[in-house]
Amino acid sequence: MISYNGHISYASAPAKIILFGEHFVVYEKPAILASIDKRVHIIVIKNDNENSIIINDRIFGKKYYPISVFADLERFSNDIYFPLLYTIKKNSAFKSNVGLEFTINSDIPYGMGLGSSAALSVATVACLSNIFKAIKKEKILELAIEAEKLVHKNSSGADCIVTTYGGLLLYQKKSFRKLESKRELSLFLIPTGIKHSTGELVDFVKKFKSSNLDNFHKLANASENITKRAIRAIKDGNEIMLGDLMNENQILLEKIGVSNLIIDKIIGLCYKYQALGSKITGAGGGGCVLALIKAEIKNSFMRNMEKEGFQCIPVELETDGLIY
Ligand code: PMV
Repeated sequence: MISYNGHISYASAPAKIILFGEHFVVYEKPAILASIDKRVHIIVIKNDNENSIIINDRIFGKKYYPISVFADLERFSNDIYFPLLYTIKKNSAFKSNVGLEFTINSDIPYGMGLGSSAALSVATVACLSNIFKAIKKEKILELAIEAEKLVHKNSSGADCIVTTYGGLLLYQKKSFRKLESKRELSLFLIPTGIKHSTGELVDFVKKFKSSNLDNFHKLANASENITKRAIRAIKDGNEIMLGDLMNENQILLEKIGVSNLIIDKIIGLCYKYQALGSKITGAGGGGCVLALIKAEIKNSFMRNMEKEGFQCIPVELETDGLIY
């Protein structure tokens, strides 16, 4: 725990990828996720002589909120920092005669399916817990999930779990267990350049489900089956199998309508340049494609994708999760 006289506090939480099971996880099917080496870092300074909330963010600039926002917070429900303000209000020790200054530094691209908002929520709650009243990790997670649900009410909670506990994990119905990979996986993220709204895509899938009930049920069961086979492939370090399963998973995501032309193009290029497997990671509709590559062709794969005009970001898994 890093906290100085209760006046300055620091917390950091990682981004995530979803290897298997996104969307179907909202309907209680299993998913496999991993935290990766991109992080949001937050410093909060408490100033007893101030009466405002100041947020400095490298990307979104500086924002100022008078303490009176908490009297009618609902008015700010479309504000980008609504979940953050909500977590301040929900902190049981927060008193309205205090000023807080946040400095947010994030290298997690926003709207790219990498869990930037879950990482921000978890790190914020942890920072406030350092400064006001220490709360356990489980409670931090609970409050962060509550805040995430303000952004999209059907959130599975999976993003918050993986950013809190870190590592490679299997998640289903609010519980998780860690998985060990027998071999290091050569994974790449290929950004589509299109930002997405998770809430809108989750709503879109909800509509798809209600007008295609039987079909959705079959697809969800297929996703569960893929995820279960992937657990074994990860344990055995069978990357050929893992790649095939990623391709199978992508077909399901296409069937529920969360792929698009640019994603299809990237997936096509991944096949062309001999990725073992590739799929959407996260909500889709843009965001990033995740590709699994044989370590020996890493460099040529990157070169080829870049020649085609696509950035290729190597992914390192991490195991720390929330640091506070
Ligand atoms: O795109 P992201 O990082 O917000 O991931 C969303 C994952 C979903 O399964 C589509 C939604 C959820 O709450 O699990």
